[in-house]
Amino acid sequence: MTTPKIALIIGSTRAARWADNPANWLLAQAEKRSDLDVELVDLRDFDLPLFDEVASNLWAPSQDPKVLAWQEKVAEFDGYIFVTPEYNHSITGALKNALDQAYVEWVRKPMTVFGYGSMGAVRAVEHLRNIAVELQMVPVRGALHLGGADFFTAHPIAGGAGIEAVEDNLIPSANGMFDDLAWWVAATKTARENDAAKAA
Ligand SMILES: Cc1cc2nc3c(=O)[nH]c(=O)nc-3n(C[C@H](O)[C@H](O)[C@H](O)COP(=O)(O)O)c2cc1C
Repeated sequence: MTTPKIALIIGSTRAARWADNPANWLLAQAEKRSDLDVELVDLRDFDLPLFDEVASNLWAPSQDPKVLAWQEKVAEFDGYIFVTPEYNHSITGALKNALDQAYVEWVRKPMTVFGYGSMGAVRAVEHLRNIAVELQMVPVRGALHLGGADFFTAHPIAGGAGIEAVEDNLIPSANGMFDDLAWWVAATKTARENDAAKAA
């Protein structure tokens, strides 16, 4: 089996976002591993319109070239890590829109989340897992939460010290999350490859 490809998708697109700090920190942790090939995917680069297709691409091919480019990108990966803030107890509108703009590309691939917010974005993370089930992804148990005192130390709203200042509290959970994701990615990649071989 080739090394599984994982997209680390940044779930905030606003100009003043803080998301780059958690996303780049997690990418650096991922790059220490040899069992996952992790690539940063920034929703900003895709300039997706609000969903305006006749149906999900489970039922009808999408038409908008920007949507097709996004679907091609999503299809490259064997699993996904979403880096997401919590906006009013859920994920951002931009991330929900990006999830809706593909379907078949997400199917039977594991996903996990790095959530950041005052409560570790737990409500957003749970919403995202529910959405992932409908898209036939495989939400894994291991996830990473930056919350409470660590969030306020790291985030510019208070301390502004950056994630690096609290990373000792995050690294064990990050490694557990990567381990969990790697197991499920290997299992589902093998199963998808077996299906493809049978269908050929
Ligand atoms: C529209 C909006 C809603 C928010 N709602 C929450 C929330 O429900 N819970 C929370 O912990 N933080 C909330 N915040 C604060 C975010 O945690 C903080 O602004 C964070 O930096 C957002 O991520 P971003 O900068 O990468 O976009 C909210 C921020 C915005 C802009």
